[in-house]
Amino acid sequence: MPRPVLILFAHPSYEKSRVHRRLARAVRDLPGVTLHDLYEAYPDHDIDVKREQALLVAHEVVVFQHPFYWYSVPPLLKQWMDLVLEHGWAYGSHGHALRGKALQVAMTAGGRDMAYGPEGFNRHTFREFLLPVEATARLCGMTFNAPWVVSGTHAMTDAAIAEAADGYVALIRRLGEG
Ligand SMILES: Cc1cc2nc3c(=O)[nH]c(=O)nc-3n(C[C@H](O)[C@H](O)[C@H](O)COP(=O)(O)O)c2cc1C
Repeated sequence: MPRPVLILFAHPSYEKSRVHRRLARAVRDLPGVTLHDLYEAYPDHDIDVKREQALLVAHEVVVFQHPFYWYSVPPLLKQWMDLVLEHGWAYGSHGHALRGKALQVAMTAGGRDMAYGPEGFNRHTFREFLLPVEATARLCGMTFNAPWVVSGTHAMTDAAIAEAADGYVALIRRLGEG
């Protein structure tokens, strides 16, 4: 792929996962893709900032792949943002390391689409809930793509999960091709 893709995968309980297990397996061996499992790499949440920054520099597209947890990202991904996106490196007058790269959220949610909108149970869209991530991308000079969301996971059949995995492969390929 012309644009190398870094998938930052953050699932706090991978052993119980139905959906991300399939999504991660579907994309992990695609050419040009690095799947980086944060919970596996940092079981003590002790993030190696320099290693993470080097990974970011080596890729053009960054994907946050995670389940929606309390209308937000899982804690290790937030910790990653807090530590890795340093002032003077990722943002600020001398922080240009991420400028021009793309950020894609690839997320799963237990709630259904109809629950996420002005008239829905949760009153806001997925994109609205992800505003802190979007604003972070913008501050770092990255392009923020519309979030890719697999919703209604609690009621998904195996066939629907397989279809979502195909959709995810297509998304990652498109991102890599630019
Ligand atoms: C602690 C916790 C918080 C969650 N918060 C939300 C939420 O805010 N909105 C939502 O739609 N689903 C929420 N869920 C459901 C998960 O997003 C859902 O189980 C997950 O995306 C399914 O993917 P998996 O099979 O890979 O685990 C939550 C689940 C857990 C365990």
